[in-house]
Amino acid sequence: MKTRNLISITDLSKGEILDLITTAQEFERNPNQRLLEGKVVASLFFEPSTRTRLSFETAVNRLGGRVIGFSDASTSSQSKGESLKDTIMMVSNYADLIVMRHPLMGAARYASEISRVPIINAGDGANQHPTQTMLDLYTIQQTQGHLDNLTITMVGDLKYGRTVHSLLEAMHHFNPRFNFVACDVLQMPGQYKQFCREQGIPYTETTEFSSDIINQSDIIYMTRVQRERFSDMMEYERVKNLYTLTASMLQGGKPTMRVLHPLPRVTEIAQDVDDTPWAYYFEQARNGLYARQAIICRALGINV
Ligand code: CP
Repeated sequence: MKTRNLISITDLSKGEILDLITTAQEFERNPNQRLLEGKVVASLFFEPSTRTRLSFETAVNRLGGRVIGFSDASTSSQSKGESLKDTIMMVSNYADLIVMRHPLMGAARYASEISRVPIINAGDGANQHPTQTMLDLYTIQQTQGHLDNLTITMVGDLKYGRTVHSLLEAMHHFNPRFNFVACDVLQMPGQYKQFCREQGIPYTETTEFSSDIINQSDIIYMTRVQRERFSDMMEYERVKNLYTLTASMLQGGKPTMRVLHPLPRVTEIAQDVDDTPWAYYFEQARNGLYARQAIICRALGINV
């Protein structure tokens, strides 16, 4: 059995992404399969989470495995000064797989270089969130029927938003077109725009969330302005409420268009959007279970 880390979405080829989607479809049909009998999965969350942690833990439970770990690092020996290296060395003595979220960019890659068992990155600072991307891709495929030639509008915190960074990189396999909508201080970082140019991916960049942009979109990917990434709270207060999607803004949207959001949301999607046919973010979060079941099996080398 070949075990495998998942640190960045770029660790996956196009073929592997499509295989994971197929496996996730199988888990959506039948989520209860005892494929992890006798396996222990460590769930180490050094940053808060609702969806990622609970969907991973549900995935393990539905596959017949067991979960150890913590959801609050202050209850771990990190609070006594233990290093990440020593924590990973210890936990890889106990578990068959480690799922880790950490506030520092690169922490998951570092952990994978130390660990004796595979590491799945459940988010590392503003860097990557590859398992979110797999559920996003699964959801896009589910709603559009395919992944190719789509116009994806990303809105909000494009600077620190690890979900948009990972999604942008993953979509390069599928001939996308992007609209980046963000205020001056939260624009898509240069390295990702450079990546688009190198890959021949067309993109627009604007501060205005216009009806033209909404009406041409296949996917609107809203993101939260992340308070926890700001060192200057005055700046956070200035930009936190600049973009709020409302139901009335969607009225000219394509019937097939869907609004996604990695969640949690604060003010960026008004509650009245929830009742429109374009809202799909709660179904998207549900898909996290199936995508993560597929990712766990890949990590442990289990054929489904
Ligand atoms: N989308 C996401 O990562 O949500 P949580 O922070 O609740 O895990």
